[in-house]
Amino acid sequence: MSTTNDLRAFIAQLPKAELHVHLEGTLEPELSFALAARNGVQLGHDTPEALVAAYDFHDLPSFLAIYYKAMEVLVHEQDFYELAWAYLVKTRSQNVLYCEMFFDPQAHTGRGVAFDTVIKGIRRAQVQAAAELGVESQLIMCFLRELPAASAMETLIASLPYKHWIVGVGLDSDEKNNPPIKFAAVFARARAEGYRLTMHCDVNQQNTLVHIGQCLDVIGVDRIDHGVNALEDPALCAEIARRGLGLTVCPISNRFVVQNLTGDEIRRMLALGMKATINSDDPAYFRGYMNENLIALHEDAGFTAAEITSLVRNSFEVAWLDDRRRQHYLALLDGSGS
Ligand code: HPA
Ligand code: ZN
Repeated sequence: MSTTNDLRAFIAQLPKAELHVHLEGTLEPELSFALAARNGVQLGHDTPEALVAAYDFHDLPSFLAIYYKAMEVLVHEQDFYELAWAYLVKTRSQNVLYCEMFFDPQAHTGRGVAFDTVIKGIRRAQVQAAAELGVESQLIMCFLRELPAASAMETLIASLPYKHWIVGVGLDSDEKNNPPIKFAAVFARARAEGYRLTMHCDVNQQNTLVHIGQCLDVIGVDRIDHGVNALEDPALCAEIARRGLGLTVCPISNRFVVQNLTGDEIRRMLALGMKATINSDDPAYFRGYMNENLIALHEDAGFTAAEITSLVRNSFEVAWLDDRRRQHYLALLDGSGS
């Protein structure tokens, strides 16, 4: 692999999986403008470029304020369809063949948009994308952790008629003073209903090691979103490696909120046998999808083709797929130029 151009081409052709992407975080400014016009919502900016120029986030709360405000343009089933369809087209163009996508129902039901409206629009895009684009996807329903546990439980119950469309549940939004244990009963019920479990342990959050410990010991998660700070505690690292838990790391997102791609940390995870994976998180806001994240790791942190292949392999290994599908994707990866 002689040049960066070779490595870019190598990354582009690799069959990939994405396990940590917020559908609402894929809302591109051009689609925002189209939906705002259709739904009579004022965006407060004259052009998509001016909207992007106003993205000013340097930590999790400053990002979340912009993220929730922008969602107000999503009102009708067709809007959610167009949001999910645009992401699936884009990610397929980067050879992402499988994705697990988060959605935040409470961010919509709290504005008077029905759960049914949200999920039916997303589902229509998923079915069409599988048939027409050959991209397979599953949905993970996230609870907003700053809201009361009772609201999460209500949302969980509202989801049950659509259980066959949802593979798992997650926990996102503002982590400060909202530990995993606050949602222990909700996640226990979700597990009993057959959902897989994951939770955000965002980078450099207050009490992060306690939160990661609760994910392991109280909640019994199947995966951790971010989880980079586990490296500060060898016992947590050993337990994550022993259980084979995936960690969905988001380098460009990290660069926005902690000013660092966390390349050294990702290397340490791989060396410790922790199943780190690479993901885009909120690509429309952080201005980078899957390939841009992998290219950034190469160009700014010196990741080699072999390291990138290991990270992509981990994604298929920890994905919530049955064994037959997993083997199918791993065989594609082995048969690619890797
Ligand atoms: N962290 C927490 N909550 C979120 C994020 C994130 O990066 N993106 C969307 N909701
Ligand atoms: Zn996230």
